[in-house]
Amino acid sequence: MPLVPLRPLLEAANKYGYAQGAFNVNSVAQIKAVIEVHEMLRSPLLIQGAELGNGFMGGRTDFINSTLEDKRVGAKKIGDWVRKYAENASIPIALHLDHGTNLDAVIAAIDGGYTSVMIDGSHLPYDQNVEITREVVKYAHARGVTVEGELGILAGVEDHVFSESSTYTNPLQAIDFIRKTEVDSLAISYGTMHGPVKGKNVKLRKEIVIAIKEILQHEGIVCAIVSHGSSKVPKYIVDEINLLGGIVSNAGGISTSEIQQAIQAGIAKINVDTDIRLAVTRNMREFFYKNPLKRDSSSIGAIYQLMEENKKQVDPRAFITPIMETVTDGVVPDEDVAAIVKCIEKGVKEVVGTSIVEFGSVGKAPLVECTSLDEMILKYKQPALSI
Ligand code: G3H
Ligand code: 13P
Ligand code: ZN
Repeated sequence: MPLVPLRPLLEAANKYGYAQGAFNVNSVAQIKAVIEVHEMLRSPLLIQGAELGNGFMGGRTDFINSTLEDKRVGAKKIGDWVRKYAENASIPIALHLDHGTNLDAVIAAIDGGYTSVMIDGSHLPYDQNVEITREVVKYAHARGVTVEGELGILAGVEDHVFSESSTYTNPLQAIDFIRKTEVDSLAISYGTMHGPVKGKNVKLRKEIVIAIKEILQHEGIVCAIVSHGSSKVPKYIVDEINLLGGIVSNAGGISTSEIQQAIQAGIAKINVDTDIRLAVTRNMREFFYKNPLKRDSSSIGAIYQLMEENKKQVDPRAFITPIMETVTDGVVPDEDVAAIVKCIEKGVKEVVGTSIVEFGSVGKAPLVECTSLDEMILKYKQPALSI
């Protein structure tokens, strides 16, 4: 099936009262695994590549320094792999740029085959956020591509911009923003945070979601509300990493009950990345613990070394640079590399499978009214497009 824009997936989530999970990928193995687990559970699928993820898939091992060209190459690579696997898939699949920072990165993603983009102007003054978001909406909607904006600041690391504290989204400003930009969806700040240290017993301000949804309905405006920074940071995975020689301190995430209440309040899309990173890191640590001889492997021994040198690191991109051909092109030269690929695939399936069940999207694939990019171009030309 060809990739679809995100908008029909969000429409189905809003209509049937579940949330669409949004899962970040940084390797071919992750793309394959995330598709397989969604197919198994008959869930619609939203795959995300962040700007830096695109840079990494473009072959940039020091991905923090990715250039626009790295992002362009990586976006095309992700687009090609997702399209290849989607050909035989029986579920609707959308590909979304996570935390796009400017129009050039957005264009690189759309050129690579992305069917949805986020433009994150949340760190800009309000008027500039409106302006850049409008610019992206104009460019993307003319191509049938869905757009997500962001208003309010999440604490934590967001696209390597660190914010000490969060600024909750003002519901009245959110309505003004949606009206002025015509975004299809809006990421809000309501107590979630990026990364593995979100605090203890985090309580989300669901009132913010309810207020925005309520005003949208009264005003007849259409927009889906998005929850970033929503990983659970499962204690069992953190404990296992620490037992296996890693160091993860002060870990804490968003509980299942908080996220499910947020879905009831009206959240339609939920972003998860950290939990996948944690599960993959745990699996790799476990593999080298159980197979000490592999620590000296000529193909993957260097991965073990990097893990030993970076015990606090839980982003597998820091460890898997010795096998970049596997990461970007799916090349598996020997059984040792195959074992690492298994660690990645199993980590994705554990976290993503659990999330799909908790977000309520199991079995919902047939409910999505699939719309092509060309059909969306025509729909965006009509005045009142409703979710
Ligand atoms: O919210 C951001 C995602 O976790 C992606 O992270 O920009 O390091 O690829 P990244
Ligand atoms: P987590 O860090 O909680 O997984 O959030 C990911 C995210 O919001 C990606 O945009
Ligand atoms: Zn995010």
